[in-house]
Amino acid sequence: MAQKWAVLAVLLFLPINLVEAHNWVSVEIGREAVLSCPNISNVPSLLVTWRRNCRSCCFLSYRRDHNETSRLNCSERITWKYSPGRDPALRIYPVDLGDEGIYTCEFANTEGNFHFLSPLTVIVPPTVTLTHDKSRVAVCQASAGKPAADISWIPASNHSSEEEFRHPNGTVTRVSYFGWANSSFPSVTCLVTHAAMNQTLVMDLRYTSHRLLYILTGAAAGTIAVIGLTLCLIFRHRACCLRKRAQGPAEHSTARASKFSPPRATRATVSPPDFPESIYVNCKPRSIYITL
Ligand SMILES: *[C@@H]1O[C@H](CO)[C@@H](O)[C@H](O)[C@H]1NC(C)=O
Ligand SMILES: *[C@@H]1O[C@H](CO)[C@@H](O)[C@H](O)[C@H]1NC(C)=O
Ligand SMILES: *[C@@H]1O[C@H](CO)[C@@H](O)[C@H](O)[C@H]1NC(C)=O
Ligand SMILES: *[C@@H]1O[C@H](CO)[C@@H](O)[C@H](O)[C@H]1NC(C)=O
Ligand SMILES: *[C@@H]1O[C@H](CO)[C@@H](O)[C@H](O)[C@H]1NC(C)=O
Ligand SMILES: *[C@@H]1O[C@H](CO)[C@@H](O)[C@H](O)[C@H]1NC(C)=O
Ligand SMILES: *[C@@H]1O[C@H](CO)[C@@H](O)[C@H](O)[C@H]1NC(C)=O
Repeated sequence: MAQKWAVLAVLLFLPINLVEAHNWVSVEIGREAVLSCPNISNVPSLLVTWRRNCRSCCFLSYRRDHNETSRLNCSERITWKYSPGRDPALRIYPVDLGDEGIYTCEFANTEGNFHFLSPLTVIVPPTVTLTHDKSRVAVCQASAGKPAADISWIPASNHSSEEEFRHPNGTVTRVSYFGWANSSFPSVTCLVTHAAMNQTLVMDLRYTSHRLLYILTGAAAGTIAVIGLTLCLIFRHRACCLRKRAQGPAEHSTARASKFSPPRATRATVSPPDFPESIYVNCKPRSIYITL
């Protein structure tokens, strides 16, 4: 042991000849990362070490004269890729988000110490979904990606909006909303672009459950409207009041149909009974069809 550290001490006091080039490595989570330590000296190395730029991080070394490896604080996921005497490349498998950092390979020989830096970046492919909500807004979500995914739409829309959520583990969720209430597109396509994957999701707008929902709501509204109309006729003394209100609801509905506002992620679900009730109060059953 004492002899080992004596050799190490001698080697460390030799002049540092070179701090060599960076080799940026980017690996998808769960895959294998191989960090190379290229031979940049003409003389065989006596000692090769790998360490990370943090306290209590893995320290892996190989001594050629003893053909011996020593490990300090290294998880079993971190090993030599090959026989270190032949090629001292470092292998990390499977790669985790916590493995990100700058790794330094240092080798020492009679010429001096040589450094080689390998900054490791872990990328995480996002989980992608395309759904729609009750107000005819398509929702494309790329969850927990690293780096953040890019979302775009076909057809390109001025009426799309985006939200972003940053998670403590460095991943990002992006949500894009596309309102098609005022359009006649047969389908909408969400394109998700990411370093680890590209994905295209298509939603057919003609056969979404909305049509059915609106038809059902319309039918229910019709039934209630008949009752409402009957009641209106019965309470004739309110006729003047009803005439005054007649303009109001139609204007309101048109405005709602043409204006798209991005919904919040936690949008409250609309309960169908709300429609018939408001129609009854207004005594103006036709206004519901304008919102279709
Ligand atoms: C590096 O290359 C030199 C010359 O090609 C060779 O003598 C030396 O053994 C090599 N070093 C390592 C660590 O393989
Ligand atoms: C190894 O890790 C422990 C805690 O995880 C720490 O106390 C210790 O100093 C580390 N050793 C080295 C050599 O970094
Ligand atoms: C070094 O040791 C390993 C086993 O620990 C052995 O497979 C290899 O042949 C040895 N290399 C030399 C050069 O002695
Ligand atoms: C988006 O809006 C800009 C002006 O605000 C307009 O020039 C452009 O044509 C619009 N694009 C689409 C696809 O509607
Ligand atoms: C990162 O955090 C988010 C939110 O907490 C979680 O959904 C995701 O699975 C995490 N990703 C990894 C790779 O740990
Ligand atoms: C994703 O698409 C872009 C261009 O559209 C391309 O440059 C990139 O290589 C693709 N990435 C993957 C992982 O397929
Ligand atoms: C909806 O369409 C009409 C006519 O096609 C247009 O005048 C209006 O500006 C559109 N509204 C929005 C919000 O795009």
